[in-house]
Amino acid sequence: MLNLAIDDIRLQRWIDELAEISDAAPPAVTRVLFSEVDLVARRWVKQRFAEEGLSVREDAVGNIFARWAGSSDSQPAVATGSHIDAIPNAGRFDGVVGVLGALEAFSALRRAGFKPRRALELIVFTAEEPTRFGLGCLGSRLLSGAIDPDRAAALIDADGVTLTQWRTKAGLEDARAGKLASVRLAPGHYGAFVELHIEQGPLLERRGVPIGIVTAIAGPSSYRVTLTGEGGHAGAVLMPDRHDAGLAGAEIALAVERAAQTSGSPDTVGTTGVFRQLPNAVNSIPCDVTLEIDFRDTLLDTRTAAWSRVERAIADICDRRGVRWDLEVINANPPATCAPVLVETVTEVCRALGLTCDRMVSRAYHDTLFMAQVCPTTMIFVPCRDGVSHRPDEYSSPEQIATGVAVLAHTLAELSSAAQA
Ligand code: HGY
Ligand code: MN
Ligand code: MN
Repeated sequence: MLNLAIDDIRLQRWIDELAEISDAAPPAVTRVLFSEVDLVARRWVKQRFAEEGLSVREDAVGNIFARWAGSSDSQPAVATGSHIDAIPNAGRFDGVVGVLGALEAFSALRRAGFKPRRALELIVFTAEEPTRFGLGCLGSRLLSGAIDPDRAAALIDADGVTLTQWRTKAGLEDARAGKLASVRLAPGHYGAFVELHIEQGPLLERRGVPIGIVTAIAGPSSYRVTLTGEGGHAGAVLMPDRHDAGLAGAEIALAVERAAQTSGSPDTVGTTGVFRQLPNAVNSIPCDVTLEIDFRDTLLDTRTAAWSRVERAIADICDRRGVRWDLEVINANPPATCAPVLVETVTEVCRALGLTCDRMVSRAYHDTLFMAQVCPTTMIFVPCRDGVSHRPDEYSSPEQIATGVAVLAHTLAELSSAAQA
């Protein structure tokens, strides 16, 4: 085994420096796709990559690729990476640990004199979070062909700005960066993809286990429900005469919760995360409501059956209340299974390092979900305090992160030395 020294002090400094590049006051982090702070953060990580001697390129949607050339470029590269965008009022570790931790893994390998046979590539994926367009993993969806480039180009945010307009603002317009169709990777482009990430759940911490190895990733789906009532004066319209879109939305949110709770599977989760209502005035009956619903399960059939109960509830509630409704499927993706051979490789690395590890399902989705359509994948999880994530108090200690970085580094060394896939 290589004798690696992980520089956890510099890594923590990087994490803290990147956290300062945010639209929220510390300790919160907000970094939404192609916002000014996202563009600054992208430049910041590219500088760190260049300092480590990596060759850096960016594709048409802003996925960033930092490459450590191997001695045999005829073999598919081995990839790792994650994201640096952050939902509003988030923490500083989600995604960032998989980007800066991978950079430290490359650096520790180089400092130990390691030379990869296969190239090693660190990817910073565009828009893993759904905040801008309501659709997560935009960069990895385009890389894997999971979204049509024309549909992606037409994505429009809550302010009516399209992806094409945002790309132009980011300096990624077609003339300079190529068309979105050029993002797609050919199957087999990579030999393997391994993502380091905080668990975003409590299991590892509860069990006192330092490393999680992901065997499957729950299948995400999200929906936009538009409700149109009649509105009116809050004082003058009597209760029997109302068609209150806000109350229809409230009943639908409860129906989402009920469908997840009664699906027969503990892995079904339903969240009405976006609830916008107009005119949003205390003395006016809500007439226009937009809901965005996140609905997941590790089993596709269970999710499909539970969601069909939500759809029936939407129709019943709106019929009874005289509210018009429209349902748009934003995305509905199957769960991903990670490659047993990679799960075994990481398990062997943990064994050699004397680390206990647990095999587990990821209930959060990640770019690995879509990279699984490009090449064999797995993920390495490190514990996070109380399982908290997507909150300013998200936390994973320098020691916990360094352990994950060491496992990632040894795994990458193993995979990039292999002659065959
Ligand atoms: O929502 C998720 O699972 C991921 O954190 N974007
Ligand atoms: Mn996240
Ligand atoms: Mn993440």
